[in-house]
Amino acid sequence: MSSTQPIGIFDSGVGGTSIWKEIHELLPFEKTIYLADSKNAPYGKKPIGEIINLSRKNTEKLLQMGAKTIVVACNTATTNAIKVLRSNYNVPFIGIEPAIKPAALHSKTKAIGILATQGTLTSELFHQASELYSKDIHIFEVEGHGLVELIESGKRNSNQTKNLLRNLLKPMLEHSIDYLVLGCSHYPYLVPVLKEILPEDVQVIDSGEAVARHTKVVLTENDLLAPEGINPIPEFFSNTNPEVLASLINAEENNFKVSHLDF
Ligand code: SIN
Repeated sequence: MSSTQPIGIFDSGVGGTSIWKEIHELLPFEKTIYLADSKNAPYGKKPIGEIINLSRKNTEKLLQMGAKTIVVACNTATTNAIKVLRSNYNVPFIGIEPAIKPAALHSKTKAIGILATQGTLTSELFHQASELYSKDIHIFEVEGHGLVELIESGKRNSNQTKNLLRNLLKPMLEHSIDYLVLGCSHYPYLVPVLKEILPEDVQVIDSGEAVARHTKVVLTENDLLAPEGINPIPEFFSNTNPEVLASLINAEENNFKVSHLDF
């Protein structure tokens, strides 16, 4: 394995580009390849076996493309499949988990909300993390039913999304949460709408920066950090129409390549 090989990143669709952005910003010398499995989105309601199979398929594609490490930029895939991936493939895997810890530590009202998919909220990994903090604070979990589909279809800023979010978040807002944890890599794209509907004293928190920092640590520990010098152009692949993905990363303006690929 060589440090000049790319970092492979996959998600159930376009949302993981929120994680890719943080990695690209922190590690501009790294070549990145992003796979959007939008054909199979959302993963959040699928049985665990299917989430594992899809995660293996994405991993194998990225390994064929020469990935030196793989970022599972999908909370549902991380919480349900990363153990299997780690035991079956010989590259470092970096996952993404909801940022419960910082929210719980900083909450003044001792009430925080978590918005995530059914697959994440019912996973063992999530239960372990939330149990650690639920002794001292109230954690209000809400399944973001329908949100991934709206983001995948380019309707993230629509009235439909705004109304859905209002209804989903109403119960936790009645309990005076002061932090909202975004437990799905698609949801950072909802921040502009969230800002319109959340009271000012509710902070929104996601895991993007933490994942980027952790990626750097893992690459350093494995002697796989790319040498500084050139900034390689990232590559993006989608197995459906890549238009929404291209718009989220401003592909045209940034001169990024977004291609269709069957995988
Ligand atoms: C989904 O595919 O349902 C959402 C992806 C995620 O959990 O980050």
